[in-house]
Amino acid sequence: MATYAYLQGEFVPLEEAKISVMTHAFLYGTAVFEGIRAYWSNEKNQLYIFRAKEHYERMANSCRIMRMDKKHSVEEMIELTRKLLEMNGKKSNAYIRPVVYKSSTVVGVKLSGLEDDFLIFATDMGDYLDIQKGLRAKVTSWRHVSDNSIPMRCKVNGAYANAALIKTEALDDGYDEAIVLTDDGHVSEGSAENIFLLRDGKLVTPPETDDILPGITRDTVITLAKEELGIPVEIRRIDRTELYIAEEAFFCGTGAQIAPIAEVDHRPLGDGSVGPVTKSLQELYFKIVRGQVEKYMDWCTPVFI
Ligand SMILES: Cc1ncc(COP(=O)(O)O)c(C=O)c1O
Repeated sequence: MATYAYLQGEFVPLEEAKISVMTHAFLYGTAVFEGIRAYWSNEKNQLYIFRAKEHYERMANSCRIMRMDKKHSVEEMIELTRKLLEMNGKKSNAYIRPVVYKSSTVVGVKLSGLEDDFLIFATDMGDYLDIQKGLRAKVTSWRHVSDNSIPMRCKVNGAYANAALIKTEALDDGYDEAIVLTDDGHVSEGSAENIFLLRDGKLVTPPETDDILPGITRDTVITLAKEELGIPVEIRRIDRTELYIAEEAFFCGTGAQIAPIAEVDHRPLGDGSVGPVTKSLQELYFKIVRGQVEKYMDWCTPVFI
């Protein structure tokens, strides 16, 4: 069965979905994107796109900041995504990558007066980070791009050069993932995921104003902690050394899902194994994304209708 992409207003076979080497977005990183997962449920014989609406609403904000015309309404983008997965016909988990990009083939760095295009493709993706073992993380020597340089609030492709530097340093140094600080030295997030600590029985996560991507998984975790597990959530600035004395910690994101952290900068967290709060959140999360919890079915868009 052919795999399709959506590009320049039509569905085309993925191998034919090509853009010019002179595309502005390729030359300058002037594109914004989303990463969305769809989970296959054997029980329901259905593929569910998780929180598509929130992803496309965030993309609309990214477009506004980067002066891009997303071409479609949020509802239209959800339907195009659903249609793409339906055409691909795969009854398995998928990772979806929508992109709005500056499509003019021109040299010259600016945002105005250029053409925009919306594309989507989907691919297979297993666990982006290990979600079982407890990750070894380090605080990277790189600082995060800040709101006054490249805003993390919009998921702009160019900002991921910063993420690549951050992640590569961690991998080169033998760690699984990095934690990056804001320019003024407070905990921001992982290279491509948000972070939560458990301190004195409360979940703590940095505020949106500490140069994080306002994650949809972060929002999911906050909702589930408060409403389902009765765990208070504090959104506040976090010092580096709080990482070392947390009872538990985890990364979360569409790619990362909920990935426990066992150690930061050689300090084991708790007893070094995956903590009970992280485990409960993981269990709940994986039920919800597969459409097994009635209360949260609004978050799941069925593909095969
Ligand atoms: C830098 C960064 N932070 C956080 C996240 C998590 O966001 P979300 O949960 O919306 O996927 C991502 C993307 O997945 C990211 O790239």
